Amino acid sequence: MGIRIAGTGSYVPEKILTNFDLEKMVETSDEWIRTRTGMKERHIAAPDQACSDLASQAALNALDMAGLTADELDFLIVATITNDKVFPSTACIVQRKIGASNAGCLDIEAACSGLLYGMELASGLIRGHKKGKYRNILVIGSEKLSNLVDWEDRNTCVLFGDGASALILQATDDDDDLIVASEVKADGNYGDILQIPAGGSACPTTHETLDKKMHYMQMAGQDVFKQAVPAMVGSCKNVLAQAGVSPDEVAWLVPHQANFRIMKAVASRVGIPEERVYINIEKYGNTSAATVGLCLDEMVRGNQVKPGDYLLLTAFGGGLTWASVLLKWC
Ligand code: COA
Repeated sequence: MGIRIAGTGSYVPEKILTNFDLEKMVETSDEWIRTRTGMKERHIAAPDQACSDLASQAALNALDMAGLTADELDFLIVATITNDKVFPSTACIVQRKIGASNAGCLDIEAACSGLLYGMELASGLIRGHKKGKYRNILVIGSEKLSNLVDWEDRNTCVLFGDGASALILQATDDDDDLIVASEVKADGNYGDILQIPAGGSACPTTHETLDKKMHYMQMAGQDVFKQAVPAMVGSCKNVLAQAGVSPDEVAWLVPHQANFRIMKAVASRVGIPEERVYINIEKYGNTSAATVGLCLDEMVRGNQVKPGDYLLLTAFGGGLTWASVLLKWC
C-alpha cells in the first residue's frame, strides 16, 4: 500500500492588513518589516470567523480537488494553536461543519510544525493498518493568530496572519509512496522563548494575568531565529540522507514562512539555490501551522509541481518543535 496526496486546499480571510496599515498602529515601517522579514501584507479573520471556519473552507477545497465527499474521510486532524474552544476539539467542530460523519477527530498542537506533525501521524495510521482501515485522512493547519497577538507590541504583531491549509493523504493500492522520508523532533527546554504564559492550567486567567497581557504571544525573536536555522538545516539533511537524495535533486524546498532570512539561511546551508525555495511570505506573513500547506496548495494549483519532483518540506515552531518531510510527487 502506498500513499498519495489526493487533494490540497487553502483559505485566507478577505481582510488584508498591509505594512502601511501597521505603520498607523505601532511604531514600525514598511521598510523595516520588508527588509527584516520579507512580509508585505497578511490576512486577518473577521470577528465572527473562528479557526474552524477557516479550516472548513480549506478542507472543502481539498475535498473538491480530491473528488471526495466529506463522509468518505476516515480521520480528520487539525493542527492549531488557536482552537475555537478549550474543548471540544477544533477537529470535532470542523467535522460537524463539513459533514465528515465517519471520521475520527483529533487536534494536535505542535505550533508552526503542526501540519508536518499531522502528516507524520496520518501516514503512520495509513501504513499501520495494511487492510485499509484508514484510506483518506484530512490534515489541516489552521490559525486565527490575530486573536493571540498584542496589537500594541511591534515585536510580534507585524509578523503573524490568519489562514488555513489542508491536504488529503490517501492510501493507494500500488507501492508508490509520496512520503519518501520524514523526521519530527522537539526540544521542550526552549519552550519559554515562544509562548503564551497564561490561560492554561499552570497559570489560569485572572484579572492580573489579563492586566499583564500574559494571554498574548511572547517571543524572544533573536533566540527563536538562532534555534530555527540549525534545527531545520539538520532535519533537512537527515531526511535527504534517509532517502539517499542529494540537494541537487530537490525541485523545491518548501519551508515554514516565518522570515525570509531564515528560509534563505536554511536553503544555503542545505545546498539548495534560492530560486528553488518556495516563498509566499509577502502575501500572508506567518500563519503558523498553515504556512507550508498554503505554499503547497498554491504550487499544485499553479502547476508548479510535476510527477517525480522531490519536494522538501520543513518547519519550525513553538515547543520547540521542528519537522521535515521529503515528498516524491505522484
Ligand atoms: N518595527 C520597527 N522596529 C522594530 C520592530 C518593528 N516591527 N520590531 C522590533 N524592532 C526593533 C527592535 O526594538 C530593535 O530595536 P533596538 O535595536 O533599538 O533595540 C531592532 O528593531 C532590532 O530588533 P531585533 O529583534 O534585533 O531584530 P531582528 O533582526 O532579530 O528581527 C525578528 C526581529 C522577530 C523579525 C527576527 O528575530 C525573527 O524573525 N525571529 C524569528 C521569529 C520567528 O520565526 N517566529 C516564529 C517562529 S515559528
